[in-house]
Amino acid sequence: MKMNNPIGVFDSGVGGLTVAREIMRQLPGESLVYFGDTARVPYGSKSKQTVLKYSRQIVRFLKTKNVKAIVVACNTASALALDEIAQELDIPIIGVVKPGAKMAVQTTKTGNVGVIGTESTIKSGIYNEYIRELNPDVTVVGKACPLFVPLVEEGLLEDRVTDDIVSRYLEVMREYKVDSLVMGCTHYPLIRNAIKRYVGEEVNLVNPAFETAKCLKEMLAEQGMLNVSKGKPQYEYYVSDGVDKFISFADSVLPCHVTETTIVDIESY
Ligand code: DGL
Repeated sequence: MKMNNPIGVFDSGVGGLTVAREIMRQLPGESLVYFGDTARVPYGSKSKQTVLKYSRQIVRFLKTKNVKAIVVACNTASALALDEIAQELDIPIIGVVKPGAKMAVQTTKTGNVGVIGTESTIKSGIYNEYIRELNPDVTVVGKACPLFVPLVEEGLLEDRVTDDIVSRYLEVMREYKVDSLVMGCTHYPLIRNAIKRYVGEEVNLVNPAFETAKCLKEMLAEQGMLNVSKGKPQYEYYVSDGVDKFISFADSVLPCHVTETTIVDIESY
């Protein structure tokens, strides 16, 4: 595998662009192939069987682009499909859950960690599992926040409605006095301000997207796969539906303008 081959990044839709953004910032030499499954989003309310099937199809598609590694940017797919896919794959793959769990354990002082995510991520108990593997003395409070994704996609990042929903969902985090809160869904870092306003300055917000880009860099460096050439990185975007919506969301998240996005018939992979 050549070190200047791109890295494949996939998500259930647009949210994974928050992970792509961190990779662009922290690994500016790497080319990316992004796939957003915009036709079949959301994954957050789907079963393991379905998310695994979708993820396998996307991985098969990304392999046709000669990616040297894959980042599962979606928390739900990382929770439900990563372990199986990692066993089937001959290139490195990382998800966003482990890096986020690691940082939560490193930052908590009280031993009370909160995790917020989609229904499927929270139900899987995977953050809990990883966090307690690293430190069995930590108490994990999980809370599904299904309305956060549509609020973000509607652009209501700074809005009374969002503040209201944040306070309803996160009341439990205050009750349990968590001092480290994992934003365990691709969209949540985009309402970081609203979350911070409610939980308070003293609570550390963990962004798995940021931690994943850090881990990806370490992993590529260890395997001698970091792209050290000075060439300009290439970014390619693929979706399963809704190009215009994807581009306008991408423009609000990424540091660069997306000029072209291609529709892929993902069911055929
Ligand atoms: N990308 C998903 C995640 O991080 C959120 C959107 C969805 O439910 O598909 O879990």
